[in-house]
Amino acid sequence: MEHLASHPTTRKDLTFLNQFDGQKTEPVTGHLTSFAGGNFILAGLVLKEDKYTKFGIELAESYFQTYNATASGIGPEVFRWVDAANPTGAPPADQADFYNKAGFWVTGSDYVLRPETVESLYYAYRATGDKKYQDLAWQAFNAINTKCRAGAGYSGLRDVSKADGGGFDDFQQSFFLAEALKYMYLIFVDDTPVQVKADGPNQFVFNTEAHPFKVRA
Ligand SMILES: *[C@@H]1O[C@H](CO)[C@@H](O)[C@H](O)[C@H]1NC(C)=O
Repeated sequence: MEHLASHPTTRKDLTFLNQFDGQKTEPVTGHLTSFAGGNFILAGLVLKEDKYTKFGIELAESYFQTYNATASGIGPEVFRWVDAANPTGAPPADQADFYNKAGFWVTGSDYVLRPETVESLYYAYRATGDKKYQDLAWQAFNAINTKCRAGAGYSGLRDVSKADGGGFDDFQQSFFLAEALKYMYLIFVDDTPVQVKADGPNQFVFNTEAHPFKVRA
């Protein structure tokens, strides 16, 4: 929270996480890192430390904004920004307008059916009960269902900056069913023993591939 949280110069309302290589931080992140929102939210709930929950929600909402900003409605694999606390660097000329509005520019334009953004929205919804997060997940689901559906399955996309997703990569990752669709399902179904609880204790924990594991009593 102290060293990696970063706000873009053009969108100080957003919080992304810098990358750290052991020597220096760099304002670059990606779809995978979007899991951090959910991780902080769960930490806040389990430890009963509201500051972590709040920070996680801030991340979940900010990473969702990458979905809201692209022409396809889906967030990119990798993106950069100019860190407001250390403003060096600039977007390429052809993405300057986009950076002014969106607070990031795209450096890896593919989408490989990753779950992390909706995963964090799931934790945000479970922590708050605020239907706003269901609406955001629904927006993401509709974009993915429209752009990635390919015959009998779903395919990754080559360029989320294009309205049609820039073509298929002809690959359906296993985590699309195991995680992306599972978290989208869980955010809309009723409370069940498997669900994350805002006021604890949790009977289950989801592992990295969203398989529920029973918490040992
Ligand atoms: C998505 O972006 C539009 C502007 O392009 C904005 O009006 C809208 O509020 C944004 N949605 C969310 C959920 O932030």
